[in-house]
Order: sequence, then C-alpha cells, then structure tokens
Amino acid sequence: MEEIVVTEEHPARLVALSAAQPTGQLTIGNLFGAIQNWIPLQDHHDTLFCVVDLHALTVRQDPRQLRKHIMELAAIYLAAGIDPEKSVVFIQSHVHQHAELAWILSTFAQLGELERMTQFKDKAQRHRHNVNAGLFTYPVLMAADILLYGTHVVPVGEDQKQHLELTRDIAIRFNNLYGPVFQVPEPMIQSQGAARIRDLQNPEKKMSKSAESDLAKVMMLDDADTVLKKFKKAVTDSLGKIRFDETNQAGVTNLLTIWCAATGHSREEALAHFSHDLYGKLKVETAEAVNAVLTPIRERYHLLMDDPMELERILVRGAERAAQRAEKMMVRVLDVLGLPVHAEIRRRG
Ligand code: TRP
Repeated sequence: MEEIVVTEEHPARLVALSAAQPTGQLTIGNLFGAIQNWIPLQDHHDTLFCVVDLHALTVRQDPRQLRKHIMELAAIYLAAGIDPEKSVVFIQSHVHQHAELAWILSTFAQLGELERMTQFKDKAQRHRHNVNAGLFTYPVLMAADILLYGTHVVPVGEDQKQHLELTRDIAIRFNNLYGPVFQVPEPMIQSQGAARIRDLQNPEKKMSKSAESDLAKVMMLDDADTVLKKFKKAVTDSLGKIRFDETNQAGVTNLLTIWCAATGHSREEALAHFSHDLYGKLKVETAEAVNAVLTPIRERYHLLMDDPMELERILVRGAERAAQRAEKMMVRVLDVLGLPVHAEIRRRG
C-alpha cells in the first residue's frame, strides 16, 4: 500500500472511479455486486462514474441498441443513487482523452502481458470469429480511464483485479521513465458476500444477464410480480435447512446472500431471522427485500427515461467536468513524452 500524501495536487478526498459497460439490462448481481457499493463512496471520496461505451465496441454491437443501452445505463446509475451533484457521471466517448491516452499507454504495455489477461483469453474463446485488436488492448483503455483522473481507488469485482494490476504496472513503468505523472491506483474489491450473487436456476454459476433461462436472473427493471415469480421458482434442495453452505446448499445460500445484500443485514442476522423457517418463506421474503430496493430505483429510472433532456443535461455537464480534469493530465503526459503541446490547438478539441 502506498502512502497517499495530501498536497495541492492531491485533493484531501481520494479519487474513486468505476465504470460498467453498456451491454444491455443489468441484473441484481450488477446492482448488489457493484453499483450499490459505489453509492456510499460519494460522501467521502471524489467520485467519477463512467459508462464505458468504447469498451463495448470490442464485440459487434447494433448501433441502435448500443445508443439505447448507453442512455439506459446512465439512467440506472442515477436511479440507483449516484448523485450528479456529488459525482462526475459521464460517458466515456464524450471525453476524447480516454482514447487518446489509451494509444499512448498501449506503447507501454507489452504483448506478453496482454496475452496473459484471463478476460481476453475467455472472450477470444467466446468470440472466435472476431478476436480484434481492441479486444486485446481492452485493458489498456481501462488503464487510461483510471489514470486520466489521478484515481486512488477503483471499486471493482474480483474479476477485474488482473486488469487493475496491469494498470498499476503501466503507471509505475511510465513514472519510472518520466517522473511521477500517474497516481498508482489501488483496487477496492467489492465485499465478497454481495459480489457473489448466483444464478437462481443453477446456483453453481454467477448470475449473468446472458443466462438462457429468464428465471435464472433477476433484472434491475423487472416488475415486482416478475421478481416474486422468479424467486418462488428458485432452485433450492431437499435438505430443509436454512444455512450458509455453498458446497451443499448453493441455492439456499444464494437466497440468504441476496436477502443480506438487499436488507443490509449481516449473515448472523439472516440466520437468526430464518433459521426455523421453510424455504417458501425465505423465497418470498427475499423477493420482498429485493423489491423494496428495486421499486424506488425503477420509479426514478422511468422518470429519467421520460425526460431525455434532463438526462442529457446531466451527461453533458458530467462530460465537461471530466474533460477538464482529463485534459490537464493529457497535456502533462504529452509534454513529458516530448510531443509538442499547443494550447491553441488543444482548445479546438
Ligand atoms: N472492465 C470493466 C468491467 O468489465 C469495466 C471498466 C472499464 C472499468 N473501465 C473501467 C472498471 C475503469 C473500473 C474502472 O467490469
């Protein structure tokens, strides 16, 4: 852990940045595993939340769908409690410095390092017909997202740890050559309980929006009846005991985990609450707890989607605030590298 010195350049609040790809509707796994954990950070960190639409291009997208998904994800952030007065909320492609810095950082990332990224290996397997160079350099663009803002902490799931490690290596490598330009970021791995929401039909697997069965996943925008129906049909077991036991009772454990994430209660409290109950009650109460979280989010989401001008206003302002900060870093990077920076030319954008 690096010691963080508060100076004029390093504001007293640590910078926290996170992002998600606009690849269609989110599940409660995305909410409890990621977005929900971003909300409290806003009160004691300098927070930025980004919709990484350039990353989404690494797999083929339908333009109309993509445009829709980008706005939906931004609305979800806001509906879930990201406050544009406290945080910078923006779309990656609105701030051209992300792509610009990514190019520069790509000259500091080694092929061998990128080849070792497990997410690349996975995706290359799944999209065999389109293993494009962008898929390969995806983590470099992610490094640019993070390093542009002097980010200290990056709240992410366990699966992004390797990308964070690469970001750190790139930053350190650059700093060793050109001086302390980049803050070396730390991952903030999301509390394991909440991050591990499982598939309701096959609790051996992580809940994923790409699951085939609709019953397997609870979407953030599912209506209350649908949520209840999905939980009622959740796969459990025949042991008849309510306890945390991932090996023998993955389904029941998942329901308890979701109940904890939705209510904010601890595992001990969950056990005290349910230990003598039947599975039916666990399912219904978990559905109710999830609905208590989702209902206000759904309402705010629909209000925002009904007022595209307001959403746009928020995103334009977010982009302006982000770009101002990103530009400062970009000029510094260009300058230390020996590229001729011209204030006049930079201003033209
Ligand atoms: N790669 C991340 C994911 O798949 C998304 C992402 C892109 C990100 N840029 C980021 C996350 C910067 C945190 C910070 O979840």
